[in-house]
Amino acid sequence: MKKLKIAVLVSGSGSNLQVMIDAMQANRLPIEIVGVISNVADAYAITRANNAGVRTVVLSHVENGKKMGIRTFESRATKLLHEWSPDLVMLAGFMRVLSAEFIQSAPCAMINLHPSLLPCYKGLDTHERVLKSGDKWHGCSIHLVTAELDAGEVLTQAVLSVNVDDTPERLRLRVQKLEHALVPFTLAMIAQGFLVLGKVPTCLGASLPIKLYLD
Ligand code: GAR
Repeated sequence: MKKLKIAVLVSGSGSNLQVMIDAMQANRLPIEIVGVISNVADAYAITRANNAGVRTVVLSHVENGKKMGIRTFESRATKLLHEWSPDLVMLAGFMRVLSAEFIQSAPCAMINLHPSLLPCYKGLDTHERVLKSGDKWHGCSIHLVTAELDAGEVLTQAVLSVNVDDTPERLRLRVQKLEHALVPFTLAMIAQGFLVLGKVPTCLGASLPIKLYLD
């Protein structure tokens, strides 16, 4: 089977990137990570990629004490993505908001991992907000990236039930565990052609979003 070439954008620890690297190296998924771009110089995700021999580029938002504007970041990242020619761009803990121009000029579809059951809780501090609202359900989503923040079509979700003794940190860890299952599941669906990311994403034999109850 032809491998799905993936470029990954990161800002932080990269635990989801690690799951992808492990699956790629063990041949559990038909994927090839063609490069990792970080906007944070000391993101641990970069160490993980370097350890795995995956090409990395840091486009730090602060360089020699000067801030790199989002336009500069985007034009450099666009150039790299066209050089690497991936089939898919995955935002895995990437924390800068991207412009419509950047998304449209990407060489392929772009998906994002988000720690809530979208369309609920777009943006930051999702675990705190879930606990404050008293919601019974929480989880994570993978959605198509569009110009509006966290608003593109939701492709897949993994769901958990909120426990009475959950704290934001406990929820973060429980959701992270779900993410580590949702990411390879979703990539397998895309790589095997069951999930097609056209302008209107479609899935063979299921309606979107596909929901996994793994808790
Ligand atoms: C993940 O929980 C992901 O859902 C979140 O960042 C974390 C990255 O973890 N993404 C966002 O909040 C995007 N808005 P990781 O660096 O360990 O993979």
